[in-house]
Amino acid sequence: MFAQFRADTQVCPYIGQSLRMSLYDSLDRYVEESRPRFEEWLGRLVEIPTVSMDPARRNDMWRGAEVAVGCLTSLGAQATIVETGGYPLVVGGWTQDPAWPTVTVYNHLDVQPAMEPEWTREPFKFTVEGEHYHGRGATDDKGPALTALLAARYAAEHGVRLNIQFVWELEEEIGSPHFAEGLAKAMNFRKPDSVVVSDTIWLAGGRPAAPYGLRGNLAARLILETARREAHSGLTGGVARNPLTELAAVLAACVDAKTGRVTIPGFYKSVRPLGKTDRAQFLRSGFQVKTFAAAHQLTKLRVRDRMEVMKRLWAEPTFEVHGFVGGYTGPGVKTSIPPRAEAKVSMRLVPAQDPAAIFRIFRAYVRKLNPDVHVEAHGMLRPYVADLGGPYAGAVLKALRFGFGKEPAFIREGGSIGAVVTMAKRWKAPVMFLGLSLPEHGYHAPNERFDWGQASGGMKAFVAYFDEVSRITGKTQGSRTA
Ligand code: BES
Ligand code: MN
Ligand code: MN
Repeated sequence: MFAQFRADTQVCPYIGQSLRMSLYDSLDRYVEESRPRFEEWLGRLVEIPTVSMDPARRNDMWRGAEVAVGCLTSLGAQATIVETGGYPLVVGGWTQDPAWPTVTVYNHLDVQPAMEPEWTREPFKFTVEGEHYHGRGATDDKGPALTALLAARYAAEHGVRLNIQFVWELEEEIGSPHFAEGLAKAMNFRKPDSVVVSDTIWLAGGRPAAPYGLRGNLAARLILETARREAHSGLTGGVARNPLTELAAVLAACVDAKTGRVTIPGFYKSVRPLGKTDRAQFLRSGFQVKTFAAAHQLTKLRVRDRMEVMKRLWAEPTFEVHGFVGGYTGPGVKTSIPPRAEAKVSMRLVPAQDPAAIFRIFRAYVRKLNPDVHVEAHGMLRPYVADLGGPYAGAVLKALRFGFGKEPAFIREGGSIGAVVTMAKRWKAPVMFLGLSLPEHGYHAPNERFDWGQASGGMKAFVAYFDEVSRITGKTQGSRTA
């Protein structure tokens, strides 16, 4: 399917070969020598708790941005902080010649909270154990960011004729509310010919995946207040309205708990059935239900059929309850009626579901069910699907083959990255995914980690990727100077 892509044909085979040698000759040594530096910077970044959804971490967010700038400049890149109405963007890189093609590399430096009781180490203390790097944000997405950066440095210093500009976001985990604003304000940012995002996971160790789509997301809070303070249920029960019970009823009316089928009227209206190409890609992906369940430590599943699982993960929408807060949670049972309940929910969306339209039908439905429930949106991300194939997909294929000796499965991804749609729209440029995380690294999970195998293979893959894309646009002949 990628047969049409032959980057080598753009270069004189003889010279292409000899140049290739000079670029790749010292790469293994560079990767090995980069290890202390990689660990040092990953440690510094992981030890700053850049939890974007926690207002108490405000200062850490800014500190994280400053350390990131220090990281870029210490490796010889230019770097600046771009302020927005929220947390800033860090942008920088090596932009050397306007005549060369430009690639934008996207990563995010904000992380999820780390309050899970299963943590066996301090989440914001960086620890190296053999090949493993432990700490919140190690794999999502600080490790991959540094991997791409060290590769870019090598490419820039070894004559790859490509402008490489990084954009590191600090609001990805809250839905990228100021990302578009930040891009508009980034003065030195040129329109890239292509974008590469390193913020996705493989199917399994040794099974690279290159997604060509992401689900969208609509997050919301539902709040119900029925009293000014809690009341004794012996004194008020039967008459007082119980906000936990009522909110539970609202949630139960939104989704079939057993099947997962969303029951908000009109929710599926714009969802199209899975296409032939998608189905074929999924089938040949090598996805295994058992490996998937084990990696995420799932002990019970709704369905086990392989195709059905992939379809549900990558191409169907969902409604999830993430948190249900209220009432007494201490030891024993306290017989009071709580005054207030809150539910944190989100819906994964697929093409062509429009998050704003879905929010309207959701709010209208909740109002009809219980007019006293307050509904608040917390981020709306559009789904994304790219065209399969083409030279950039070919470059991803070659890069992963070179870095890891394996070819990626082209699949869709169940997660969401708000910045992707913004970049694709703003620049009308192809967005490719070159993710390095593994399922067992534990995205958002306790004991999150990254590892040197993914970092070292990732550096090689990124160098190869930069080399390949430097020869795509036809702006330049040949990829690099000696
Ligand atoms: N890196 C993830 C996106 C992702 C998740 C890619 C799963 C591949 C598989 C990203 O950091 C993330 O967690 N995004 C959030 C966004 C939120 C605001 C909706 C997500 O998907 O929950
Ligand atoms: Mn991420
Ligand atoms: Mn994440």
